[in-house]
Amino acid sequence: SPSDPDLVERARAAKEKLGDKVFVLGHHYQRDEVIQFADVTGDSFKLARDAAARPEAEYIVFCGVHFMAESADILTGDDQKVVLPDLAAGCSMADMATAEQVAECWDVLTEAGIADVTVPVSYMNSSADIKAFTGRHGGTICTSSNARRALDWAFEQGEKVLFLPDQHLGRNTAVRDMGMSLEDCVVYNPHKPNGGLTAEELRGAKMILWRGHCSVHGRFSLDSVNEVRERVPGVNVLVHPECRHEVVAAADYVGSTEYIIKTLEAAPAGSKWAIGTELNLVRRLANRFADEGKEIMFLDRTVCFCSTMNRIDLPHLVWALESLAEGNLVNRIQVDPETERFAKLALERMLALP
Ligand code: 13P
Ligand code: SF4
Repeated sequence: SPSDPDLVERARAAKEKLGDKVFVLGHHYQRDEVIQFADVTGDSFKLARDAAARPEAEYIVFCGVHFMAESADILTGDDQKVVLPDLAAGCSMADMATAEQVAECWDVLTEAGIADVTVPVSYMNSSADIKAFTGRHGGTICTSSNARRALDWAFEQGEKVLFLPDQHLGRNTAVRDMGMSLEDCVVYNPHKPNGGLTAEELRGAKMILWRGHCSVHGRFSLDSVNEVRERVPGVNVLVHPECRHEVVAAADYVGSTEYIIKTLEAAPAGSKWAIGTELNLVRRLANRFADEGKEIMFLDRTVCFCSTMNRIDLPHLVWALESLAEGNLVNRIQVDPETERFAKLALERMLALP
């Protein structure tokens, strides 16, 4: 939908009034009406890396979801305040691993005698508590753009990986990119005693995958891939690694949101692409590349927006910017110092990956 011109003008005016005091970051899944005000756009990795790029900005307005704002707070100084325009912008995947559940899982691994040789690798899409757990136990954070490198690193530190909380990214990276077999992976279900696994099964596994997933990407199916290939001869299927394994295995290209954009930038005119990721991004790319004769379509028309990403809309952004311009610090995301210390360790390990 086209953005309300009055709200656009108010956002512009508030941002201008704030000047260098504000730095607006926007994830690729944000609405067009919001992304137009971002100083930097990116995938989760780029936004984590760039969060500290403007140390002179007093406010970082994060147009994305809660775990991203937390990570920005962890990676920036105490004098920089991170603001999330709607506090209800969470992530259902991140919510699938709580600190209590993960502590219990570590006890299960300890009882099975494998905690000493297991390295936690946690997807960026997790709470600061989970990142702190990861840092405390010698592990690293990863995003969809460096999961392979994070796993290579982890297997140099230990024999097994506990991958949190996205089973699909963990499995896809291990099997598709690293040549492990599906049998090397087991799924730990936090809702079952001992994760639903025997000590024997745990000891036999290389990858212990947490039973979490993305509700948006989880809806793309092998049928979606087969159907689009039938309907559009010569189509290239490009999907995000949060998709299920059979979808990723059937796709031509797999990567993060930034990778998806770069791939389409490099694609020749006349090529056709079916994209398996969030709808705001796919629509934006379809419009952007239409003039260049690249035909970009949604992999499955029944899959929709990420509802929590979409919570950040223009009214919330205007409210946040105007409040800050009037000197009212609203919706601050602040991680407590103890959690921050260990979460930062894990995030810095990721940033230092080769
Ligand atoms: P990337 O932008 O890192 O590809 O992540 C996608 C995502 O689901 C963020 O929530
Ligand atoms: Fe979370 Fe999926 Fe939305 Fe990304 S797309 S924020 S993983 S629910």
